[in-house]
Amino acid sequence: MNPFQPSHPVNPKYFANRKNVVEAFRLALRNASETRSVAPTNIAVLGSWGIGKTSVFNKFEHIALKEMEDINIFVARVQLNPSACTTISDFVTFSVNEIERSFDTQGSIKMKIMDKMLTWKIKSLSFSGLRIEKKELTQHPVSVFQNSLEELWCRILKPEGIKVGILMFDDLHYLAENYPKGLYDMRSVFQSLALRDVNFMLCITGPTALFVKIRTLAEPFARFFDKYELKSFSLDETKEAITLPLNVEKIDVKMDEKVIEKIYELSKGHPYFIHFIMRDVLDTGSNKITFEDFEKLYPKIFLHMGKSKFSSDLEIASDKEKEVLFKIASAYESVSFSDLGKQYRSSLYRLEEKGLITKTQRGKYLLYHPLFREYLRCQR
Ligand SMILES: Nc1ncnc2c1ncn2[C@@H]1O[C@H](COP(=O)(O)OP(=O)(O)OP(=O)(O)O)[C@@H](O)[C@H]1O
Ligand SMILES: [Mg+2]
Repeated sequence: MNPFQPSHPVNPKYFANRKNVVEAFRLALRNASETRSVAPTNIAVLGSWGIGKTSVFNKFEHIALKEMEDINIFVARVQLNPSACTTISDFVTFSVNEIERSFDTQGSIKMKIMDKMLTWKIKSLSFSGLRIEKKELTQHPVSVFQNSLEELWCRILKPEGIKVGILMFDDLHYLAENYPKGLYDMRSVFQSLALRDVNFMLCITGPTALFVKIRTLAEPFARFFDKYELKSFSLDETKEAITLPLNVEKIDVKMDEKVIEKIYELSKGHPYFIHFIMRDVLDTGSNKITFEDFEKLYPKIFLHMGKSKFSSDLEIASDKEKEVLFKIASAYESVSFSDLGKQYRSSLYRLEEKGLITKTQRGKYLLYHPLFREYLRCQR
């Protein structure tokens, strides 16, 4: 089995680095289980595409359910997507469904509360008129959500001895994009719940700009979280991301130190590209990879990357945006707005929104990764 899987979040046993956010989570969990006055720390994991946000959630879940044996914990995951966030009712319906579907606890509690969770879900959805059978809305969806969560805590979790509930919302920007006020609502819900001694810790992920774009509405929401921004790995961290899965799975592959350094240089420590390259390296089946072997292999890996990643990046760009991408790729390193001209202003904005380019602090535009730049250069 190949432990490197670029298109899936990493299995917690191969999870490398990210010590700050992991330690903060452990501490927050301990505190939430011990303090008498309930005011749990909420955690926001922020970062760009493929940087490892969902992997951090997998790790959180693993810590809560496998490491903290002395505390009874309830965990539920809500993986948001655009259609789940078209309206606030959709968001509440989807969240209630997902909480019931995904929840987990340690030991036997899960079996004990399964039926109760199902009843809770049906009641929550019918109460709001969100079920198909009942058309008219009897209560605002935000109140429904708050009441449902309070009921979940007071009637199901607390009586079973659960000390902390963790609710994780992955990719919250889908809600923010369609309904920015939803972020404010989320804060009201969780703040009110905390006042009522409902011990839910809220964890969210989103792009770094989640709190920036909708500043006035989101500011109180931003203050509600301890924020952790994920960055690409350093050279040492890249080494850990490569060697840990090999050691855990006792995979006997000898790799020159220079190969790891080269992978770092190519990937710039981006976890997705590290996994992509390592997956293809292991798929060769060789048990010794010298620097020369890697140099020979790399063109094939790069071609594969083009097919499975960069070509779909290019597909989401319009013809005019493609033109801008090729212009940036052929520039020395980055371009400024004035280098391109007024007619490309909106394209730059849209490309940034699509995550294909990034803006530096000095107002210059760069392609999102040097490997994408390389790919574009090869297309021309
Ligand atoms: N801490 C880590 N250790 C090792 N590999 C990691 C780590 N974090 C992420 N990866 C690898 O990076 C890739 C992307 O991770 P993940 O899906 O968690 O990112 P994401 O930020 O949630 O992406 P998206 O923006 O697409 O939702 C995966 O291949 C994963 O295995
Ligand atoms: Mg993700």
